[in-house]
Parts: sequence; C-alpha cells; structure tokens
Amino acid sequence: MTFDDQEYLRRYPFIERVLISSDEIQKRVRQLGNEISIAYQGSQPIFVCILKGAYPFLADLTRCVSVDHEVDFMAVSSYGGATQSTGVVKIEKDLKSNITDRDVILVEDIIDTGLTIAHLIELLQTRAPRSIRVASLLDKKSARKKEVPLHYVGFEIPKEFVIGYGLDYDEKYRNLPFIGVMKA
Ligand code: IMP
Repeated sequence: MTFDDQEYLRRYPFIERVLISSDEIQKRVRQLGNEISIAYQGSQPIFVCILKGAYPFLADLTRCVSVDHEVDFMAVSSYGGATQSTGVVKIEKDLKSNITDRDVILVEDIIDTGLTIAHLIELLQTRAPRSIRVASLLDKKSARKKEVPLHYVGFEIPKEFVIGYGLDYDEKYRNLPFIGVMKA
C-alpha cells in the first residue's frame, strides 16, 4: 500500500479495507497494456470506455498501449432495479465512431452479473465490427448470471461491493486510487 492509499484510509474511515492497492492496479494495468499491444499489432483498435466507472482504467490502460488506437465513449444505464442489474440497457450516450470492420475493445470497470456487457455486445454486433473483445479491471465471477467472454481481466474479486478507481457508491469515491471495501 502506498502512502497515498494510507492517507485516503485515514480520511475515509468508512472504508473497511483496501482490497487491491494502487500499486497492484498500476502493475496489472501495465501487463494488460502489454498484452493488448502484442495482440493488436497491425490493427488500430477502438477502445470503447463504458461510462462512468471505466474512465480511470481507460486512461491508465491506453497509456500502456503502444499500437495506434482510438478512444470513444458510451454511457448506459440499466432499466429497473436500483441495486440489481436487469440487463435491459438504455443507451444514454452512443458512440461517435463507426465501428463497422473495426477491432473494438470494450473497457469496463467491473463485470458483475454480466447482463449489461452481454446486452452491449449484442447491440454492437449489429454494427458489424471486425471483432469485439472485453477488457475489465474487475471480475465478480461468482455473481455471474450470464456467461460472457472476457479477454483481458485485471483481478477476480469476491462478491463484495467495492469502490474506488472509477467505481462509485452513490456517485462518490470514484477518485480513490485503490479498490476498497466499505464497512457494512
Ligand atoms: P452487471 O455486470 O450487469 O451486473 O453490472 C455491471 C455494472 O454494475 C458495473 O459497470 C458497475 O457500474 C455496477 N457494479 C457492479 N458491482 C459493483 C460494485 O461492487 N461497486 C460499484 N459498482 C458495481
């Protein structure tokens, strides 16, 4: 844990513990960036950041990618339940890019039930991209309701509610440099 991480813990006493430190995140993101750079040589992929939670991951990941690439943004919200994903996704903000015949890398903060990303893949497939892969910082595998292919995963985590590094609780705490667990 860095000094910064410890400072945040002191400032935010409601955080129970640090699950993944900022050092660990940065190290793993570099590895994923290298993997992607090798896999996409000769291509010019489009990284699609799923807002809001994936913005820190996109920023750090793309700075570790050595092949030419573009970025674009999508914002989605789930219809129905406030705490439970329904998988029926409303597009709040669509892509500007035309992804036909392009290699697309969807960048997510966390895959929980898998319903949101499954719906998004289905939707983007109708636009005839050359390929779609998913890069997610976190994978809550044990919460999965729908199987989805994840190509680049930072960390598998237990079924706990986490905050930080883009992930929010009530729109707060996205700024934390680590992934933390809140006190119950
Ligand atoms: P799902 O995979 O369709 O269940 O939903 C994934 C989305 O739910 C993520 O993009 C997050 O916005 C949100 N989410 C799931 N688990 C957590 C968590 O532990 N903390 C914060 N947001 C979460």
